[in-house]
Amino acid sequence: MTHKGPRGGWSSDECPAGAFARRAFLQGTVAAGLVGAAGGGPLDHDADTAGRKNAGTGTIPFHGYHQAGIATPPQPTGTFASFDVMVADRTELTDLFRSLTAEARFLTAGGMPPKTPPDDGILGLQVVPDDLTFTLALGRTLFDGRYGLSSRKPAQLVTMEPFRHDDLNPAMAQGDLLIQLCAAHRDTLVHALLSVLARTGGAMKPRWRIDCQRNPPRPVGIPRDWFGFKDGISNPDTTDAATMDQLVWVQPHTAEPAWTAGGTYQVLRSIHFNLDKWAKVPLAEQERIFGRRKASGAPMYDLADNASDTLDPIYTNDPQGLVTPLNSHVRLANPQTPQTAATSAILRRSYDYNLTLDPRGGLDLGHAFCCFQRELNTYIAMQTRLEGEALVPFISPRGGGYFFAVPGVRDEHDYYARGLLT
Ligand code: HEM
Repeated sequence: MTHKGPRGGWSSDECPAGAFARRAFLQGTVAAGLVGAAGGGPLDHDADTAGRKNAGTGTIPFHGYHQAGIATPPQPTGTFASFDVMVADRTELTDLFRSLTAEARFLTAGGMPPKTPPDDGILGLQVVPDDLTFTLALGRTLFDGRYGLSSRKPAQLVTMEPFRHDDLNPAMAQGDLLIQLCAAHRDTLVHALLSVLARTGGAMKPRWRIDCQRNPPRPVGIPRDWFGFKDGISNPDTTDAATMDQLVWVQPHTAEPAWTAGGTYQVLRSIHFNLDKWAKVPLAEQERIFGRRKASGAPMYDLADNASDTLDPIYTNDPQGLVTPLNSHVRLANPQTPQTAATSAILRRSYDYNLTLDPRGGLDLGHAFCCFQRELNTYIAMQTRLEGEALVPFISPRGGGYFFAVPGVRDEHDYYARGLLT
């Protein structure tokens, strides 16, 4: 994660601690937050003297100018859960966000859980941090008339309208809030979700959820998706602060409301793969559909099975698309032309889902496509180009939505979206 100093951040005395616990549903979380902050905190890596790997002891810092779970290298498991907010007014909404903050702060640090309501014990006596990140994003509907927030809506935030080939199921789309949970192990995510539900006591109603994973590298490097292609190669360097500022993080003093600085637009699309159809496509054609080699992940011009996937695709000497077809996935996503330069870079942080059986037959495997960008319009322009891609017959986008991932929680006095709510 790229950490930055507070730029125009809130001072701690703007957030009186006494205002912290107002509603009954807050009580457990407040206790949890305090335990996490004041000792009983995370186990540290060195304490794992038994030499066990994956013991759940890794901690990803929760506080920062940006939320974790965006520039953070993707952990092996993920859950995206969407909720509708049920509270009556802005005061209760603020309480809910304080409650979510305290819960996220505790779960990501680990420690002894509060006694009320009792922890479910899934992670043992002491909650392990397990590289958990908790990332909160807001949907457009939160800015309707209910909480008087419409004038503070992120400028480009809209409801995701179906693209030409989408098969959107409204029950699996949008929502007031999106919580992205990522960790080393799935039990940590289930525990986190149960904990959030228990401690927010009906203030949020679950709407839809996608559980997913990052496949391990086969054999090395970038993981493969269910189509067997290395996926996630061309991506902005998340360790380069200038790149992230340019492409991902909303900057202060722009057309966006001031509170959004440090946040980013998040897009989630659950995309079913038609693998029966895909299996009938010869390898050479599959490669032309994606515009990269399948075994190596290298650009089309390198035929060697052991070619490097770090080679850059180059289209200047291939204007007709004889090597990399003009309607291939990578070439439409990023055509490398002056006209598309401003709409060709997003930060992809996708996962693979593996649900039970597809009601329409076969396995329900697909992509929890997730990306972050400073401007939502960048994504919309890119996806509009991809309406013409050769991959269309093999995918079926069924859910997801557009959200705004709020700026980071600066310190123990701050809470999610404080600048929006105050
Ligand atoms: C079924 C869903 C998708 C699959 C299976 C998929 C797969 C891939 C693969 C295999 C690559 C090439 C390797 C790499 O650079 O990572 C790639 C590249 C890329 N994809 Fe996707 N993708 C999907 C959806 C999307 C969507 C919805 C977008 C954005 C609207 C997108 C944007 C990109 C971009 C920007 C690149 C890099 C292009 C470049 O600069 O070379 N992808 N994708």
